[in-house]
Amino acid sequence: MYLPSFQLEGKIAIITGAGRGIGRAIAIGMAEAGADVALLSRTEEDLVEVAEQISKLKRRALPIITDVTNRESIQHAIRMVEEEYGKIDILVNNAGMNIRSKALDVTDVEWQTIMDTNLKSAFMMSQEVAKRMKGSHVNGRIINISSVAGHVALRTGVVYAATKAAIIQMTKVLALEWGEYGINVNSIGPWYFKTPLTEKLLQDEAYVSDILSVTPLKRVGELPELVGPAVFLSSDAGNYITGQTLFVDGGMTIHGF
Ligand SMILES: NC(=O)c1ccc[n+]([C@@H]2O[C@H](COP(=O)([O-])OP(=O)(O)OC[C@H]3O[C@@H](n4cnc5c(N)ncnc54)[C@H](OP(=O)(O)O)[C@@H]3O)[C@@H](O)[C@H]2O)c1
Repeated sequence: MYLPSFQLEGKIAIITGAGRGIGRAIAIGMAEAGADVALLSRTEEDLVEVAEQISKLKRRALPIITDVTNRESIQHAIRMVEEEYGKIDILVNNAGMNIRSKALDVTDVEWQTIMDTNLKSAFMMSQEVAKRMKGSHVNGRIINISSVAGHVALRTGVVYAATKAAIIQMTKVLALEWGEYGINVNSIGPWYFKTPLTEKLLQDEAYVSDILSVTPLKRVGELPELVGPAVFLSSDAGNYITGQTLFVDGGMTIHGF
Protein backbone atom coordinates (compact mmCIF):
# COMPACT_ATOMS: atom_id res chain seq x y z
CA MET A 1 0.00 0.00 0.00
CA TYR A 2 1.30 3.44 -0.89
CA LEU A 3 -1.83 5.49 -0.27
CA PRO A 4 -1.84 6.91 3.27
CA SER A 5 -5.07 7.72 5.07
CA PHE A 6 -6.79 11.06 4.53
CA GLN A 7 -9.31 10.16 7.26
CA LEU A 8 -9.43 11.57 10.80
CA GLU A 9 -11.31 8.75 12.53
CA GLY A 10 -10.46 8.57 16.25
CA LYS A 11 -8.92 12.06 16.22
CA ILE A 12 -9.89 14.92 18.51
CA ALA A 13 -9.71 18.39 16.95
CA ILE A 14 -10.02 21.84 18.54
CA ILE A 15 -11.04 24.63 16.16
CA THR A 16 -10.99 28.26 17.26
CA GLY A 17 -13.42 30.68 15.65
CA ALA A 18 -15.57 27.66 14.82
CA GLY A 19 -18.86 29.56 14.95
CA ARG A 20 -18.74 31.19 11.54
CA GLY A 21 -17.00 31.26 8.17
CA ILE A 22 -13.79 29.32 7.68
CA GLY A 23 -13.67 27.85 11.21
CA ARG A 24 -17.24 26.56 10.90
CA ALA A 25 -16.40 24.92 7.56
CA ILE A 26 -13.22 23.32 8.88
CA ALA A 27 -15.01 22.00 11.99
CA ILE A 28 -17.81 20.41 9.97
CA GLY A 29 -15.34 19.13 7.34
CA MET A 30 -13.12 17.53 9.97
CA ALA A 31 -16.18 15.83 11.47
CA GLU A 32 -17.08 14.59 7.97
CA ALA A 33 -13.53 13.15 7.84
CA GLY A 34 -14.23 11.29 11.10
CA ALA A 35 -12.96 13.56 13.88
CA ASP A 36 -14.73 14.53 17.10
CA VAL A 37 -14.38 18.26 17.61
CA ALA A 38 -14.32 21.03 20.18
CA LEU A 39 -15.75 24.33 18.94
CA LEU A 40 -14.37 27.56 20.43
CA SER A 41 -15.60 31.15 20.01
CA ARG A 42 -17.37 33.82 22.09
CA THR A 43 -20.88 33.43 20.64
CA GLU A 44 -22.87 30.56 22.10
CA GLU A 45 -25.67 30.46 19.50
CA ASP A 46 -23.14 30.13 16.64
CA LEU A 47 -21.41 27.23 18.38
CA VAL A 48 -24.69 25.48 19.16
CA GLU A 49 -25.73 25.69 15.49
CA VAL A 50 -22.41 24.16 14.34
CA ALA A 51 -22.63 21.46 17.02
CA GLU A 52 -26.12 20.56 15.75
CA GLN A 53 -24.78 20.16 12.20
CA ILE A 54 -22.01 17.92 13.48
CA SER A 55 -24.30 15.75 15.58
CA LYS A 56 -26.21 14.94 12.36
CA LEU A 57 -22.94 13.40 11.13
CA LYS A 58 -22.92 11.14 14.23
CA ARG A 59 -19.76 12.82 15.50
CA ARG A 60 -19.30 14.45 18.85
CA ALA A 61 -19.06 18.25 19.07
CA LEU A 62 -18.30 20.18 22.24
CA PRO A 63 -19.15 23.89 22.11
CA ILE A 64 -17.01 25.92 24.54
CA ILE A 65 -17.49 29.66 24.91
CA THR A 66 -13.93 30.95 24.82
CA ASP A 67 -12.16 34.26 24.36
CA VAL A 68 -8.89 33.17 22.77
CA THR A 69 -7.21 36.44 23.74
CA ASN A 70 -7.50 35.41 27.40
CA ARG A 71 -5.12 32.83 28.89
CA GLU A 72 -7.55 31.70 31.63
CA SER A 73 -10.36 31.27 29.13
CA ILE A 74 -8.06 29.13 26.95
CA GLN A 75 -6.96 27.02 29.92
CA HIS A 76 -10.58 26.47 30.92
CA ALA A 77 -11.45 25.35 27.36
CA ILE A 78 -8.57 22.91 27.22
CA ARG A 79 -9.51 21.41 30.59
CA MET A 80 -13.04 20.86 29.24
CA VAL A 81 -11.70 19.15 26.10
CA GLU A 82 -9.49 16.87 28.19
CA GLU A 83 -12.37 15.97 30.51
CA GLU A 84 -14.69 15.21 27.60
CA TYR A 85 -12.31 13.55 25.15
CA GLY A 86 -9.16 12.63 27.15
CA LYS A 87 -6.68 13.85 24.51
CA ILE A 88 -6.04 16.44 21.80
CA ASP A 89 -4.71 15.45 18.35
CA ILE A 90 -5.37 18.54 16.23
CA LEU A 91 -5.54 22.28 16.90
CA VAL A 92 -6.68 24.76 14.25
CA ASN A 93 -5.90 28.37 15.19
CA ASN A 94 -8.45 30.09 12.98
CA ALA A 95 -10.02 32.86 15.13
CA GLY A 96 -9.19 36.24 13.67
CA MET A 97 -10.45 39.71 12.83
CA ASN A 98 -9.46 42.92 11.08
CA ILE A 99 -9.87 46.67 11.41
CA ARG A 100 -8.88 48.17 8.08
CA SER A 101 -7.47 51.54 9.19
CA LYS A 102 -4.81 53.24 7.08
CA ALA A 103 -1.38 53.10 8.74
CA LEU A 104 -1.46 56.77 9.78
CA ASP A 105 -4.83 56.29 11.49
CA VAL A 106 -4.15 53.09 13.44
CA THR A 107 -4.75 53.63 17.17
CA ASP A 108 -2.95 51.84 19.98
CA VAL A 109 -6.19 50.06 20.87
CA GLU A 110 -6.66 48.82 17.31
CA TRP A 111 -3.04 47.61 17.16
CA GLN A 112 -3.41 45.68 20.43
CA THR A 113 -6.82 44.20 19.59
CA ILE A 114 -5.72 42.83 16.21
CA MET A 115 -2.38 41.58 17.58
CA ASP A 116 -4.07 39.81 20.51
CA THR A 117 -6.86 38.27 18.43
CA ASN A 118 -4.84 37.12 15.41
CA LEU A 119 -1.38 36.41 16.83
CA LYS A 120 -1.14 36.18 20.63
CA SER A 121 -4.21 33.94 20.72
CA ALA A 122 -2.64 31.45 18.29
CA PHE A 123 0.57 31.41 20.32
CA MET A 124 -1.21 30.89 23.66
CA MET A 125 -3.48 28.18 22.24
CA SER A 126 -0.49 26.41 20.66
CA GLN A 127 1.53 26.63 23.87
CA GLU A 128 -1.26 25.23 26.05
CA VAL A 129 -2.11 22.44 23.58
CA ALA A 130 1.54 21.51 22.91
CA LYS A 131 2.07 21.04 26.68
CA ARG A 132 -0.57 18.28 26.48
CA MET A 133 0.59 16.82 23.15
CA LYS A 134 4.21 16.59 24.36
CA GLY A 135 4.68 13.16 25.90
CA SER A 136 1.13 12.02 25.15
CA HIS A 137 2.18 9.91 22.13
CA VAL A 138 -0.32 11.58 19.84
CA ASN A 139 0.88 12.54 16.38
CA GLY A 140 0.02 16.17 17.11
CA ARG A 141 -1.03 18.64 14.45
CA ILE A 142 -1.28 22.42 14.73
CA ILE A 143 -2.61 24.44 11.81
CA ASN A 144 -2.46 28.23 11.93
CA ILE A 145 -4.65 30.23 9.57
CA SER A 146 -2.50 32.98 8.10
CA SER A 147 -3.40 34.88 4.91
CA VAL A 148 -2.04 35.93 1.55
CA ALA A 149 -1.83 39.31 3.34
CA GLY A 150 1.02 37.86 5.44
CA HIS A 151 3.08 37.20 2.32
CA VAL A 152 2.47 40.00 -0.18
CA ALA A 153 1.58 43.65 0.44
CA LEU A 154 -2.17 44.27 0.21
CA ARG A 155 -4.35 47.21 1.17
CA THR A 156 -5.98 45.21 3.96
CA GLY A 157 -4.34 47.10 6.81
CA VAL A 158 -0.82 47.10 8.18
CA VAL A 159 -1.60 45.51 11.56
CA TYR A 160 -3.50 42.60 10.00
CA ALA A 161 -0.61 42.05 7.56
CA ALA A 162 1.91 42.08 10.40
CA THR A 163 -0.05 39.48 12.38
CA LYS A 164 -0.43 37.19 9.38
CA ALA A 165 3.28 37.45 8.46
CA ALA A 166 4.15 36.71 12.09
CA ILE A 167 1.91 33.62 12.00
CA ILE A 168 3.98 32.26 9.08
CA GLN A 169 7.27 32.76 10.93
CA MET A 170 5.85 31.52 14.25
CA THR A 171 4.73 28.37 12.42
CA LYS A 172 8.31 27.69 11.30
CA VAL A 173 9.87 28.19 14.74
CA LEU A 174 7.23 26.09 16.54
CA ALA A 175 7.76 23.35 13.94
CA LEU A 176 11.49 23.50 14.64
CA GLU A 177 11.09 23.33 18.43
CA TRP A 178 8.25 20.80 18.62
CA GLY A 179 9.22 18.33 15.89
CA GLU A 180 10.98 16.20 18.47
CA TYR A 181 7.68 15.90 20.38
CA GLY A 182 5.94 14.53 17.28
CA ILE A 183 4.04 17.76 16.67
CA ASN A 184 3.72 19.06 13.09
CA VAL A 185 2.98 22.78 12.84
CA ASN A 186 1.79 24.19 9.52
CA SER A 187 -0.06 27.19 8.24
CA ILE A 188 -2.70 27.81 5.58
CA GLY A 189 -2.74 31.14 3.76
CA PRO A 190 -6.15 31.81 2.18
CA TRP A 191 -6.89 34.43 -0.47
CA TYR A 192 -10.53 35.61 -0.65
CA PHE A 193 -13.29 33.32 0.63
CA LYS A 194 -16.85 34.48 1.22
CA THR A 195 -17.49 34.60 4.98
CA PRO A 196 -19.06 37.12 7.39
CA LEU A 197 -15.59 38.79 7.53
CA THR A 198 -15.44 39.46 3.78
CA GLU A 199 -19.02 39.38 2.53
CA LYS A 200 -19.45 43.19 2.40
CA LEU A 201 -16.20 43.61 0.45
CA LEU A 202 -17.21 40.85 -1.94
CA GLN A 203 -20.49 42.67 -2.71
CA ASP A 204 -18.45 45.53 -4.20
CA GLU A 205 -18.15 44.71 -7.92
CA ALA A 206 -15.16 46.99 -8.51
CA TYR A 207 -13.30 45.40 -5.58
CA VAL A 208 -14.06 41.88 -6.79
CA SER A 209 -12.90 42.82 -10.28
CA ASP A 210 -9.56 44.03 -8.79
CA ILE A 211 -9.25 40.74 -6.86
CA LEU A 212 -9.97 38.60 -9.90
CA SER A 213 -7.53 40.56 -12.07
CA VAL A 214 -4.66 39.16 -9.91
CA THR A 215 -6.17 35.68 -9.44
CA PRO A 216 -5.13 33.19 -12.15
CA LEU A 217 -8.17 30.97 -11.44
CA LYS A 218 -10.45 34.04 -11.92
CA ARG A 219 -12.75 33.39 -8.98
CA VAL A 220 -12.79 33.65 -5.18
CA GLY A 221 -12.44 30.47 -3.14
CA GLU A 222 -15.20 28.13 -1.97
CA LEU A 223 -15.01 27.01 1.67
CA PRO A 224 -14.63 23.27 0.88
CA GLU A 225 -11.44 24.26 -0.99
CA LEU A 226 -9.93 25.27 2.36
CA VAL A 227 -11.30 22.25 4.22
CA GLY A 228 -9.41 19.83 1.92
CA PRO A 229 -5.98 21.28 2.75
CA ALA A 230 -6.83 21.46 6.48
CA VAL A 231 -7.89 17.79 6.56
CA PHE A 232 -4.89 16.75 4.47
CA LEU A 233 -2.42 18.49 6.81
CA SER A 234 -4.17 16.87 9.82
CA SER A 235 -4.20 13.35 8.39
CA ASP A 236 -1.54 10.67 7.91
CA ALA A 237 -1.17 11.97 4.36
CA GLY A 238 0.52 15.04 5.87
CA ASN A 239 2.86 13.16 8.24
CA TYR A 240 6.14 14.50 6.80
CA ILE A 241 5.07 18.11 6.30
CA THR A 242 5.95 20.65 8.97
CA GLY A 243 6.79 24.36 9.18
CA GLN A 244 5.13 25.07 5.84
CA THR A 245 2.55 27.58 4.70
CA LEU A 246 0.18 26.32 2.04
CA PHE A 247 -1.36 29.22 0.12
CA VAL A 248 -4.89 28.39 -0.97
CA ASP A 249 -5.20 31.32 -3.28
CA GLY A 250 -6.23 30.43 -6.84
CA GLY A 251 -2.62 31.18 -7.79
CA MET A 252 -2.63 34.79 -6.51
CA THR A 253 0.83 34.65 -4.87
CA ILE A 254 2.62 33.34 -7.98
CA HIS A 255 2.45 36.73 -9.72
CA GLY A 256 5.70 38.37 -10.83
CA PHE A 257 4.02 41.73 -11.46
N1 LIG B 1 -12.41 35.06 4.71
C1 LIG B 1 -11.28 35.24 4.03
O1 LIG B 1 -11.31 35.52 2.83
C2 LIG B 1 -9.96 35.10 4.72
C3 LIG B 1 -8.79 35.26 3.95
C4 LIG B 1 -7.55 35.10 4.56
C5 LIG B 1 -7.48 34.79 5.91
N2 LIG B 1 -8.62 34.64 6.64
C6 LIG B 1 -8.48 34.28 8.06
O2 LIG B 1 -9.30 33.18 8.34
C7 LIG B 1 -9.74 33.22 9.70
C8 LIG B 1 -11.25 33.10 9.75
O3 LIG B 1 -11.81 34.14 8.97
P1 LIG B 1 -13.35 34.22 8.62
O4 LIG B 1 -13.43 34.93 7.33
O5 LIG B 1 -14.00 32.88 8.78
O6 LIG B 1 -13.85 35.23 9.78
P2 LIG B 1 -15.29 35.39 10.48
O7 LIG B 1 -16.36 34.91 9.57
O8 LIG B 1 -15.34 36.80 10.98
O9 LIG B 1 -15.19 34.39 11.73
C9 LIG B 1 -14.23 34.63 12.71
C10 LIG B 1 -14.43 33.66 13.86
O10 LIG B 1 -13.44 33.95 14.86
C11 LIG B 1 -14.09 34.08 16.11
N3 LIG B 1 -13.35 34.98 17.01
C12 LIG B 1 -12.98 36.27 16.78
N4 LIG B 1 -12.39 36.77 17.87
C13 LIG B 1 -12.38 35.79 18.81
C14 LIG B 1 -11.93 35.72 20.15
N5 LIG B 1 -11.34 36.75 20.77
N6 LIG B 1 -12.09 34.55 20.83
C15 LIG B 1 -12.69 33.49 20.23
N7 LIG B 1 -13.14 33.50 18.96
C16 LIG B 1 -12.99 34.65 18.26
C17 LIG B 1 -15.47 34.63 15.77
O11 LIG B 1 -16.42 34.33 16.77
P3 LIG B 1 -16.91 35.37 17.92
O12 LIG B 1 -16.78 36.75 17.36
O13 LIG B 1 -18.30 34.92 18.17
O14 LIG B 1 -15.98 35.11 19.06
C18 LIG B 1 -15.79 33.81 14.51
O15 LIG B 1 -16.31 32.55 14.85
C19 LIG B 1 -9.21 34.53 10.26
O16 LIG B 1 -8.01 34.29 10.96
C20 LIG B 1 -8.94 35.36 9.02
O17 LIG B 1 -7.96 36.35 9.21
C21 LIG B 1 -9.86 34.80 6.08
